[in-house]
Amino acid sequence: MRLENKVAIVTGAGGAGVGGLGVVYAHALASEGAAVVVADIDGEAASRVADEIAGAGARAVGVRCDVTSSDDIDAMVQAAIDAFGGVDILVNNAGLARGKWSEAVILSAEEWMEILAVNTVAPIMCAKACAESMRTRGGGVIVNQSSNGALIDAGAYTVSKLALNGVTKVLADELSGDNIRVNGIAPGVMTAKLPEEQVQRLLARQTVRRPGEPQDLVGLLVFLCSAESSFMNGQTVVIDGGMARITK
Ligand SMILES: NC(=O)c1ccc[n+]([C@@H]2O[C@H](COP(=O)([O-])OP(=O)(O)OC[C@H]3O[C@@H](n4cnc5c(N)ncnc54)[C@H](O)[C@@H]3O)[C@@H](O)[C@H]2O)c1
Repeated sequence: MRLENKVAIVTGAGGAGVGGLGVVYAHALASEGAAVVVADIDGEAASRVADEIAGAGARAVGVRCDVTSSDDIDAMVQAAIDAFGGVDILVNNAGLARGKWSEAVILSAEEWMEILAVNTVAPIMCAKACAESMRTRGGGVIVNQSSNGALIDAGAYTVSKLALNGVTKVLADELSGDNIRVNGIAPGVMTAKLPEEQVQRLLARQTVRRPGEPQDLVGLLVFLCSAESSFMNGQTVVIDGGMARITK
């Protein structure tokens, strides 16, 4: 129980997409003792995940939050304060993943603004909104969900996640006076739901030749959220079966 008495917010944790990493993260933090605010643009999905966690005996609430809306972000933080007294941990997981975002030149200016708003700017706004509560509780931890795509050519997605790695460094510096640490996780592709042919292509690029699973990321997440990583700040850790290492 490394996160006992802590309160965590996980964005994009409704599991409405294909990867579902936020759901696994929310369950993992709860099983380490944290009370969890499950936030997602799909409010019903967020409530379902919160109910699952509560059904397993932990504390959780579901909140509808579009991370590009400052009103929604404020309401998400207020929900954490109302339900559990404040915020200690923020996991900025919500993100627009590959698909059309893997191209740069085909996207319109509006689409560019959309991906940057969700993947790069929203984590800053969520951090800003949580900082005051964290400060009054003596500090906090922020984990930004990057991607090994930041190191591999994947169009606008690469740009947004590489910029997010920069955000992690900048926030680690700017929030250090409030004892708030900021680190990042850069996962490889979780292949479970991909077509077999695509899985084989990805495995050939990894040095660990087995498919990655969301559970592979949990140890790192809990480490970054806990006091075990208290001497670590501003870092983004790649965890991708050794793929990025051989790609560049
Ligand atoms: N799945 C992977 O293989 C993988 C690999 C590396 C990094 N990532 C990153 O992990 C994160 C989660 O990925 P995933 O594959 O689990 O995604 P997913 O599509 O399964 O889940 C994303 C969730 O975010 C929510 N969401 C989308 N826009 C939102 C918004 N504006 N506000 C709030 N919630 C919003 C969706 O409803 C969905 O529930 C993303 O940041 C992604 O870039 C995923």
